[in-house]
Amino acid sequence: MSEKYTVNPSTNISGITSVPGDKSISHRSLILLSISDGIGKITGLLESDDCLATLNIFRMLGVEITKNDENIYTIIGKGIHGLEGTNHSLDCGNSGTSMRLLSGLLCGQKFPSYLIGDSSLSKRPMERISSPLRMMGANINLSKNNTAPISISPVTKISGIEYKMPIDSAQIKSSIILASLYSSEKTNIIENIKSRDHTENMINYLGGSITIINNKITVNPEKKLVSNDIDIPGDISSAMFIIVGCLISRKSKVTIKNVGLNELRTGGIEILKLMGANIQIDNIKKYGPEKIGDIIIYSSELKGINIPEKYIANAIDEFPILFIAAANASGKTILKNAMELRFKESDRLASMSKGLLKCNINNTLLDDGIEIEGGKISGATIDSYDDHRIAMSFAIAGIASSSTITILNTENVSTSFPGFDNLMRKMGLKIKRENI
Ligand code: S3P
Repeated sequence: MSEKYTVNPSTNISGITSVPGDKSISHRSLILLSISDGIGKITGLLESDDCLATLNIFRMLGVEITKNDENIYTIIGKGIHGLEGTNHSLDCGNSGTSMRLLSGLLCGQKFPSYLIGDSSLSKRPMERISSPLRMMGANINLSKNNTAPISISPVTKISGIEYKMPIDSAQIKSSIILASLYSSEKTNIIENIKSRDHTENMINYLGGSITIINNKITVNPEKKLVSNDIDIPGDISSAMFIIVGCLISRKSKVTIKNVGLNELRTGGIEILKLMGANIQIDNIKKYGPEKIGDIIIYSSELKGINIPEKYIANAIDEFPILFIAAANASGKTILKNAMELRFKESDRLASMSKGLLKCNINNTLLDDGIEIEGGKISGATIDSYDDHRIAMSFAIAGIASSSTITILNTENVSTSFPGFDNLMRKMGLKIKRENI
């Protein structure tokens, strides 16, 4: 059975709301508390399919994880060397974060592991992690296409490396950091443009020893993590759908409370501000190792821009919805140097280009980007290409379209934003979800 959204033009998107927990931080909290000493509680864990895939894997590796009536998770940490092997495959579902981060962690274990994923994840590139992990001495094997399934065998020693990142990617960086926890030498990772640093922040919050000087991250040999309670901020990548929804509607105001505002994640907000968005931030405070605040958005007249390259890595998940903002802006928006978008849950440049053309929005697909001419979105039937962010982006496009937008294959939305349609309906979106 599959699921579809039907969205009708919706003039007003307003209200005060919050969004589910941050996906990246949720994965890291499960991983790092599982290998810490002691008991840690997680409040606000994102209960999406992706994060639940990580959670199930740690249960299979012998970690006791329970949940109480208030949705607080308790993890009894096994310590760095306490995970137990299993004969079963470790199923990462649709989650690239689970597969890439866990590969790094599992390379340092004394037992073999076999990681699998769904058909979309099984097409995504994995050589980007196996290559540095092999440099560290790991025994990791991919399919002949350099994709999942991934099989990992134990080795006697994981070595420290000096690694200059060829791609701006927090998943690759985090995979190397997690493997480095099993090395007795230090590892240096040099980034070209800094990617999200939640792994580094959380390891240090749990008593680990990572130093960051400019773009160089050093994982020091001292390795013991001590459990602590973790509160997960609201996911800014989910908030972006509401933000753009409010911007392109009429006479609307939205407040989204307690959203994670790590500077390496707010590239999307910076890009929208350059497009003329009226977005304000209030109540900024520390939240464990992260920063949160409230985001206040007012409907705005947007204009097309040349998206500065410096924001790309820190807005990497936001481009589908930014393209909807561009479609509603006056003039042309140009994005270049964003080849990475072709390797996400779908080829996001191609999926968005096709969907926008169906909605009568002129655009030119480039090898590493897209040029979008702002205009009036028309009604259409769109495929999500099994990509949650494509599905949600076209649901938001429905706000400003001339007639109904139907989005097929929307069941994937639960990988990152369970309850998206209910929350958006409360804010004023005329959205219907049906099984077909
Ligand atoms: C993530 C990093 C990004 C992002 C993904 C989550 C993470 O991927 O697209 O949704 O949690 O580290 P890349 O590191 O491949 O850019």
